[in-house]
Amino acid sequence: MGLEQYIRDIQDYPKPGIVFKDITPLLANPQAMQDCLKLLLNSLKDKNIDVVVGAESRGFFFATLLAYELKAGFVPVRKPNKLPFTTFSAEYELEYGTDTLEIHTDAITPGDRVVVHDDVLATGGTAAAVCKLVEKLGGEIVQCNFLMELSFLNGRKKLSKYDVFAPLIY
Ligand code: PRP
Ligand code: MG
Repeated sequence: MGLEQYIRDIQDYPKPGIVFKDITPLLANPQAMQDCLKLLLNSLKDKNIDVVVGAESRGFFFATLLAYELKAGFVPVRKPNKLPFTTFSAEYELEYGTDTLEIHTDAITPGDRVVVHDDVLATGGTAAAVCKLVEKLGGEIVQCNFLMELSFLNGRKKLSKYDVFAPLIY
């Protein structure tokens, strides 16, 4: 399907040495976006998903579309102090220091079948933190779903307990 042609490499962004995978050309192209959504959905057929959890901010784009198509709910996991109700937090490691993600304490019902979606799997720190939050609330992680995986960063290692799906691998 050639979705790679809609993902643009930006050299040295956000800092020197990093090649940023920019998905805005894909989002801007109606056919590419629909093809991409179909690809992500294919792996989720008949899995009885109750909730799709999206990681702020680039995970939100397809997570909401997936939730709509799966007739599931959507839950945002957000950066600190963005969610208005009571939250649980999980810290994760960055190259230098740590960062935090938050979820509403009532976002998931114990036993809910959950897909965690984000645009990119890099080191896996973000997704692992999201999974920790989902499990704290009693959710069952059916799949960690990404648009693309930067395989040289070994993010799958951090997610070895889970089914990881990523159609585009770099
Ligand atoms: C990027 C990307 C993933 C995460 C992957 O998000 O969208 O969420 O990094 O990296 P990891 O696997 O090493 O954790 P970023 O934190 O840059 O924020 P954004 O989505 O708000 O742009
Ligand atoms: Mg992100």
